[in-house]
Amino acid sequence: PIIYVITPTFTRLVQKAELVRLSQTLMHVPSLHWIVVEDAATKTSLVTELLKQSGLQYTHLNVETPKDFKLKEGDPNWLKPRGVEQRNLALQWLRDNRELSDEGVVYFADDDNTYSLQLFQEMRFTKRVSVWPVGLVGGMRFERPLVENGKVTGFYTAWKPNRPFPMDMAGFAISLQLLLANPTAHFHLEAERGYLESSLLETLVSIEELEPKADQCRKVLIWHTRTEKPKMKQEEALQKQGLGSDITIEV
Ligand code: UGA
Ligand code: MN
Repeated sequence: PIIYVITPTFTRLVQKAELVRLSQTLMHVPSLHWIVVEDAATKTSLVTELLKQSGLQYTHLNVETPKDFKLKEGDPNWLKPRGVEQRNLALQWLRDNRELSDEGVVYFADDDNTYSLQLFQEMRFTKRVSVWPVGLVGGMRFERPLVENGKVTGFYTAWKPNRPFPMDMAGFAISLQLLLANPTAHFHLEAERGYLESSLLETLVSIEELEPKADQCRKVLIWHTRTEKPKMKQEEALQKQGLGSDITIEV
């Protein structure tokens, strides 16, 4: 089965660094197709060139998050769900371009997380939905599905534990067949904080059907890392004097 990795991404100072890091992880994974969806009205040359030069098999899409749902400067980033329309567009692309007989697994990989190569081996043979722990998330060292006799019986999580699927986006993969067989399954833009993952999974599986991976969900193979926003104090000071850095040099 091909692994389809869906990554929403948006323009900011650290974007290229994030995408270089992620793309160079994905280069080590066989039989992979990267679907990169820019949160932008048009495709940028930064992402276009990066994808071209990566040598990866990829699809490059773009859709701008509707204004009412977009974070504004200074908003705390949890105020609105992020990457929703982008992931939904990628699901639409799969439905338009793949058939039920195609073997595949779909994984939502944000551009800032840290992924072990072993994770991709674990998810490759997903029947419906496979799950595993996520490190450094939810205000804890890790969150994970609880497993008894090979079956998921609940979740180790502290934040809103009563959510239908109290899991981070990075903690599951879905078989392509299951997504194609459920053509209306999608992420809900209006989902309450923390309920984005549930809004998709609820219509696809039950907890008993989840397939625990990564040593019965005892191994952390993905970390919900977040990159600090770089300070541009000196850059701004120099700009005011007309001495800003050469903008033809891409960072
Ligand atoms: C957590 C989850 O790990 C995300 O998968 C989930 O989308 C998010 O919460 C949410 O509640 O919406 P967090 O680290 O807070 O993640 O989110 P970000 O990493 O800031 O964003 C998730 C993805 O969306 C990233 O790939 C990012 O590049 C993209 N994004 C973010 C956009 O496409 N547009 C934006 O305006 C912001
Ligand atoms: Mn993130």
